[in-house]
Amino acid sequence: MNLLSSFDGLDVKEFKTKWQAPSNIAFVKYWGKKGHQLPSNPSLSLTLSDCKTETEIFFKPAKSLSVELFLDNESKPNFAKKIHEFLLKLSADVSWLNHIHLTIHTHNTFPHGTGIASSASGMAALCLGIADYFYFLKNKELDEDFFQLASFLSRLASGSASRSVYGGFVSWGEFETEEGMCDFYASPFKAHESFQNMKDSVIIVSSQEKVVSSRQGHSLMGEHPYAQARFIEAFKNFKRTIDGLRSGDWKSVGEVLENEALQLHAMMLTSPESYTLFKPESLSIIERVRRFRNETGTQVYFTLDAGPNVHLIYPGSIESEVKEFIAKELTPFAELIIHDSIGKGPVKC
Ligand code: PMV
Repeated sequence: MNLLSSFDGLDVKEFKTKWQAPSNIAFVKYWGKKGHQLPSNPSLSLTLSDCKTETEIFFKPAKSLSVELFLDNESKPNFAKKIHEFLLKLSADVSWLNHIHLTIHTHNTFPHGTGIASSASGMAALCLGIADYFYFLKNKELDEDFFQLASFLSRLASGSASRSVYGGFVSWGEFETEEGMCDFYASPFKAHESFQNMKDSVIIVSSQEKVVSSRQGHSLMGEHPYAQARFIEAFKNFKRTIDGLRSGDWKSVGEVLENEALQLHAMMLTSPESYTLFKPESLSIIERVRRFRNETGTQVYFTLDAGPNVHLIYPGSIESEVKEFIAKELTPFAELIIHDSIGKGPVKC
């Protein structure tokens, strides 16, 4: 499927646009690719509210494609180069992309380098702006298909970014007979009302650069002896998660959430080229969360992304108990704590 070809052959004009896109935390993890930037298994995430990227793009006709990018007003030639490469790839379908200049100003609302996935929010904010330009050149009003296009573009930039173009819960990847769930773009997922006030407190354990990037991690799954077993488990966990989210079964969703994080990190540990992204502090936090839940019966569960930081997921109704637990027991392991919650999705500024 290619949503881009219908945007070829347009006359380029000047245009300015600005979008805010949120980060997301995966409940069911995307880890391993097939074909052209397609996931080996379906994934599902929670869109955050406060952790987001704001990106303004100024497009102008030019002889050849060029990109300049400023993060917090500081020029970042390496980021600009990556976006240049991305647009160059897209120009195979949309040839006029070879004749524009982009000036990009971007800003994250969360501290840089904290391990909160800035690629998801960053690439989604960028691709919402690019999709907006496509629509502007075609004289189209922003409609439902606009977000599909933005998700399609975001997926090509960074898989998890495909899910950041919607609020609430979002799935990406083909799944049996579920309509709308496909590998090419993400779609919003309607969960039971008991999940509507979900909280995510992120315990930042280390803000150091990762030793192995997500890109390398996906590619290492190609040679991984347990890859097929992992993909089968991910499909099962996806089914359990969507069933639990529909029925309001916090326990089942929480158990799968933790299992997914542990499977993700188990893949890293058991990879032929073994590596470790969690830290001793991450394990201490996991142990304390388990103990707190066993002792109090509180519905608080952990997950980790591809990094050492631990996300605590819980209903808003127990926010004060969980915050007290975090303050008392987890602060010694934290560089920083960010309290976030379920978000509504991107906004055009
Ligand atoms: O979007 P990428 O290529 O950076 O991969 C992200 C993978 C995980 O964050 C570990 C899981 C996920 O589904 O978000």
